[in-house]
Amino acid sequence: MSNPVYIWSKVTRYFHWILVVCIAVTFASSYFENAFLIHISFGIIAGGLLTFRLFWGFVGPFYAQFKNFNFSFKDLFYYFTNLFKDKKIYVGHNPAASWATILLIVFAFFCTVSGVILLGSQEDRGIFAFFPSSMTPLALQVHIISKNIVGIIAIVHIIGALLEHFWHKSDTVTSMIHGYKNIDAKPTQVTKWQNYLGVSAIVFSLFVGLFSYFLPQVSIMTKNYHEVEYAKENPTFAKECSECHNLYSPTFMTKAMWEIALDDEKKHFKKDLEEDVPHFKSIKEYILKNSAETSDTEISVGIIKSTKGKVKYRVTKTRYWRDIHKQIPRSAYKHPFIKSKSNCKACHKHFGRTNYINDEDISLEYFSNKEAIKIYL
Ligand code: HEC
Ligand code: HEC
Repeated sequence: MSNPVYIWSKVTRYFHWILVVCIAVTFASSYFENAFLIHISFGIIAGGLLTFRLFWGFVGPFYAQFKNFNFSFKDLFYYFTNLFKDKKIYVGHNPAASWATILLIVFAFFCTVSGVILLGSQEDRGIFAFFPSSMTPLALQVHIISKNIVGIIAIVHIIGALLEHFWHKSDTVTSMIHGYKNIDAKPTQVTKWQNYLGVSAIVFSLFVGLFSYFLPQVSIMTKNYHEVEYAKENPTFAKECSECHNLYSPTFMTKAMWEIALDDEKKHFKKDLEEDVPHFKSIKEYILKNSAETSDTEISVGIIKSTKGKVKYRVTKTRYWRDIHKQIPRSAYKHPFIKSKSNCKACHKHFGRTNYINDEDISLEYFSNKEAIKIYL
């Protein structure tokens, strides 16, 4: 048995395990809309780490450099066809791990970039908040495909590492923890500057991610681009139209829908607004001027699309609303604190304050844990 040789530098190991946590958490949190902030924050950490890792592959220590990976297809073929015969222990990355690492880094990088673009185009937040919502389908596709590739590679990589560890007895897994392998090779050498670069990149990524989690209101990632706070922009509308129910943003319905809701002979669900609401005329003008057609938010785009050519006068009657809420059991609307589909505020905290409905504000406090998980899965 040879002496333990230092192969994986501290920076490479920290990078590896923090990325493992980030990938696990972003996968798990993607199933829960109200875990959106967690998803974004860990995605940011991963994005920072991956950008750093691409550099590290050129300027990092010997075994972390891409040029010292083994990308030979011949070796890869040999590795897989002789997996159970040849128990050769590789110094750095074996051919399969070389491919797994590079593909994982590249696709996880695609995943974070498309995620940030999606955050901009779909949610109107972050550094790409100015991107139009028409970019959403493409960004979503890239995000999903790259996510699936990352998931598959990660699973293959985990199986491979365990196989090497236990079958080839190569200490693969523990070597990623303490850095040493029992092998005859030259130890890795890390210069002072490589260490500074690595440590600062990791600390910086963690900082930006945690900052976005704890201070989303001021983080560059989570500012809603076209946010309108109604109490500030039009206090009359905000006050009068929230007398009997939650305030509905003008952008949640199309002009045609508003015309029915505000003018219909049924007189606003049997309430005569013109009589009941002071300044009704100017409020109505404001609403029609700011209807869904003037807005690029996810809900406006969804409502416009799903009501084209149809006469609808309630958000809850649109295909868009029904589709999003189809997992919610009908019995939920009988709950004494929810009562009706239109009681948006029961499940969407801060509903009506602005023109946005934020994923992290979805509250399932009136559901049991079992029901909540069923709604999401
Ligand atoms: C006097 C009470 C009252 C006032 C004031 C009032 N509404 Fe309503 N509104 C109602 C009632 C009652 C309903 C029906 C609620 C239901 O069926 O759940 C309703 C329903 C609505 C809906 C349909 C909700 C859905 O399910 O899609 C919208 C939109 C709406 N109101 C907008 C407004 C606007 C805008 C104003 C301000 C001009 C306003 N309301 C002022 C009583 C009122
Ligand atoms: C009984 C609880 C409940 C009520 C009431 C409710 N919602 Fe929701 N809503 C949810 C849940 C849960 C989700 C997330 C669904 C999912 O991810 O599967 C959601 C998602 C949404 C989304 C998508 C958010 C996003 O960014 O993905 C919009 C928009 C929305 N609701 C609007 C409304 C409006 C408008 C009303 C009132 C007319 C309303 N909801 C009433 C529970 C509710």
